[in-house]
Amino acid sequence: MTNKPKVEERKIKPLGCNQCGKKLSECVCWHKGLSIKQIFRVQKHIDSATQRAREGEINFERVWAMPNKWTFTIKPIRELLKKEVSGVWIDPFAGENGKKYAKFTNDIAEGGVDALTYLKGLRGKYDGVLYDPPYSITQARQYGHKEFASMRYWKQIKDEMARLIKPGGKAICFGWSSQGLGKGRGFTLNRILLVPHGGSKNDTIVTIELKSPPKGGKK
Ligand SMILES: C[S@@+](CC[C@H](N)C(=O)[O-])C[C@H]1O[C@@H](n2cnc3c(N)ncnc32)[C@H](O)[C@@H]1O
Repeated sequence: MTNKPKVEERKIKPLGCNQCGKKLSECVCWHKGLSIKQIFRVQKHIDSATQRAREGEINFERVWAMPNKWTFTIKPIRELLKKEVSGVWIDPFAGENGKKYAKFTNDIAEGGVDALTYLKGLRGKYDGVLYDPPYSITQARQYGHKEFASMRYWKQIKDEMARLIKPGGKAICFGWSSQGLGKGRGFTLNRILLVPHGGSKNDTIVTIELKSPPKGGKK
């Protein structure tokens, strides 16, 4: 029996307006009959990532694979990293495999420091960051320090990573959430890989985000 992963690749089909045929982001037909206040309310609630996925701008794949605590050894993830990582990268939770992809690595269980201390000590700008931390507060607590259970600690880690990525650089995040670094930190979602593992296991969710250039075009 072969152990090939099942691949379900689907670039979400662009959906046009059924009245004017334009892209949904350009169409104004739905505005008809609505007051300015109502339009504003509706627009506020359309998640831009949902809209971009509908229009085929976000690449979405779902590939089944066996689970592994060393995330980067999971076949579809290994393949994604080979394709997406180039240049000088940081991995603050490197485990056994971060060194294969990132020049600057750290891991608390491999003689390193905690990720926040490590990131605060880095200067300059990098092509990207790999973010493969413990996937839950319960897992995070097992590494000893009390602050690993606080949301503030994980927020600060994301802030530091955002600071270190150069405009146009990438953040690749792994976990049970597709939140990534997010729009608020200047990132745009570009690709999602969902890796189901079967049974009662949670999927591994991989997001790739690009850092937008600063407003006004300054580097
Ligand atoms: C999901 S594993 C990373 C696996 C790695 N990507 C691989 O494929 O080999 C998470 C790693 O983060 C490390 N770790 C956990 N909490 C940490 C913290 N607060 N600071 C730095 N490293 C931490 C653990 O020792 C563990 O190796």
